[in-house]
Amino acid sequence: MAKKRESVFVCSDCGNEFLKWQGQCFGCGQWNTLREVKTSQAVGGRKKRTVGVKREREVEVVNLGSTSGKMGKSSQIISSKLSEFDRVLGKGIIHGSVMLFSGEPGVGKSTLLTQLLGKIGGLYVTGEESVEQIRLRVRRLGVDERKIDILATNSIDEIEEVLERVKKVYKIAVVDSIQVMVSERATGVPGSVGQLRDGTFRLVELAKRLGVAIFIVGHVTKEGNIAGPKLLEHMVDTVLYFEGERHGDLRILRAIKNRFGATDEVGVFKMGEKGLRQVRSDEINLVSGTEASAGRAVTVTIEGSRPMMVEIQALVTESFASMPKRGFVGIDYNRGQMLVAIAQKSLGLPLYKCDVFVSVMGGVRVMDTGADLAVIGAMYSSYKGKALPAKSVLVGEVSLVGEVRKVRSMERRIGEARGLGRKMVRVQHIRQLKRL
Ligand code: TYD
Ligand code: MG
Repeated sequence: MAKKRESVFVCSDCGNEFLKWQGQCFGCGQWNTLREVKTSQAVGGRKKRTVGVKREREVEVVNLGSTSGKMGKSSQIISSKLSEFDRVLGKGIIHGSVMLFSGEPGVGKSTLLTQLLGKIGGLYVTGEESVEQIRLRVRRLGVDERKIDILATNSIDEIEEVLERVKKVYKIAVVDSIQVMVSERATGVPGSVGQLRDGTFRLVELAKRLGVAIFIVGHVTKEGNIAGPKLLEHMVDTVLYFEGERHGDLRILRAIKNRFGATDEVGVFKMGEKGLRQVRSDEINLVSGTEASAGRAVTVTIEGSRPMMVEIQALVTESFASMPKRGFVGIDYNRGQMLVAIAQKSLGLPLYKCDVFVSVMGGVRVMDTGADLAVIGAMYSSYKGKALPAKSVLVGEVSLVGEVRKVRSMERRIGEARGLGRKMVRVQHIRQLKRL
């Protein structure tokens, strides 16, 4: 018989498992991310669970064609009563599903989930704030206090106990946040790989068994030695990411993974005095002004089904470092590098000896390749110290040889630009930027 392993080593970045410790994770290539995690057999987890949970369940096989009550229930969809939220999820919150709600600290995760519970009612488990703090927030937000029950705890065991005791009462529970929760049967401090994994595993099991939809809040931190929610992504049904600049008011909700729907939709909110407010497309204007200046380009991206006008800024300066610097905020690093290379080749700019920084204004991330042309336009404009034509909009995907390709929903983008008093500039090759 094979010997039972006492522990495994898990990468805190990608979640890959290894039997032995090693310096580099073969899964994602990161260094020093492997953490030792005791297996549940070693901690006596399995035994404890079947004893702790009074469950006499027979192993059951269900025919998909049969219409048992259980199946009907699991396909129930709960509307969040926030259209922006429902759209990101597909139709709404699926009964018994588990959603990881991630984002940087301070972006507004607790605020949005409090507002959500205020609309549909449910249990709010707080491990970070006191009941009083939550009460203050609820009052400030003006949501219905009677709809929210609060459980202040850091213990997964207590959450399990409460949910089991009152299983019919809640359709939705929020656990804020997974980083401060402790599961008794796992080892390690809160936030460690073992705790995150076991805590999430138990919440997923609870959600499926009791039919309560659970939102798990997970902070995204940039520090490498803290296990991030990345590790948890494959354990849950849906991964939502809430993004935005802390100092700005725009917030975007995206689904990065969704077992029940598409992942290309976004929900848009604005943070104000009374929490988050849903906004319409035409209220989104991330362009800082109409007057033209060097290093700025405006584009219209389509995120999900929403057109958004965004400003891209570039700074191209002579470099005095042996390795010129590259910095990209709001666009993918590799895509940014590629666009720098294309600009160098097709426009003849000596970017190999320049520091290049590109930033999308308003704290949004642009995934749409239709923004390529504007990124190159902003770099060109900064290098030349010459503004692009006033009120112009650049849209197009740029190929490796500098050709500008059409992107989807061109008509809608043109309409959006026109609606905001701007005009789409048509170019077939980035060389033509020189003539603008
Ligand atoms: P919070 O929801 O606590 O963020 P997270 O849970 O993601 O860490 O929100 C934090 C910020 O939101 C805080 O800086 C204050 C601001 N805020 C408002 O601007 N308006 C409001 O009505 C509320 C409740 C918060
Ligand atoms: Mg919070």
